[in-house]
Amino acid sequence: PLRIAVFASGSGSNFQAIADAVHAGKLDARIELLVCDRPQAQVVRRAEAAGVPVHTFRPKDYPSREAYEQEILGLLKSKQVGLVVLAGYMRILTHVLVNAYWGRMMNIHPSLLPSFPGLHAVRQALDHGVKITGITVHLVDGGLDSGPILAQRALEIRPDDTEETLSARIHPMEHELLPWVIQQIADGSMDLERYMNLKPKDGIKS
Ligand code: GAR
Repeated sequence: PLRIAVFASGSGSNFQAIADAVHAGKLDARIELLVCDRPQAQVVRRAEAAGVPVHTFRPKDYPSREAYEQEILGLLKSKQVGLVVLAGYMRILTHVLVNAYWGRMMNIHPSLLPSFPGLHAVRQALDHGVKITGITVHLVDGGLDSGPILAQRALEIRPDDTEETLSARIHPMEHELLPWVIQQIADGSMDLERYMNLKPKDGIKS
């Protein structure tokens, strides 16, 4: 199985979807590690319940972002992690992890990128008045929710939608798409090799 690490900061419903897909035999992967920058986050309890090793840290305990990322990189290497999945990890990565895992690190984001990167993407879409939004899985480069797009799904915004009702339709889409993309990589039907020699900003045409 593909050895993966999941990074998350909050509730971890996407972590749960991955763990459930592995457990159900729908995803040929092993979650070697959960990395979490908020020790109190619900995702930590989810990982413990799923029997997944956890690494939590407090960024302020380190002199720099590079310092805590070096520690994480050591763990990823020791566990021979082949794919890193950012699932609600609310920090920008430095060159330490981006370069080490370039082409082998993905993120899920609740908008149709490149629209509405950053925090509160669902609210941003509502505030802008777009009629269609969606979700994106993309490779991670050094930017904010940027990097080559691997997969997207769209949905319509209803006139009476609120951040809450729209998020309630977006989340289940994420929970389906993210394990699906990982499985595509695990079984070789999505080939990340072709992204490896591109620079992050080149963009990928499929
Ligand atoms: C998800 O909606 C994910 O797309 C988003 O955070 C949420 C985490 O939910 N990520 C971003 O906004 C990244 N910029 P979860 O903790 O329940 O999986």
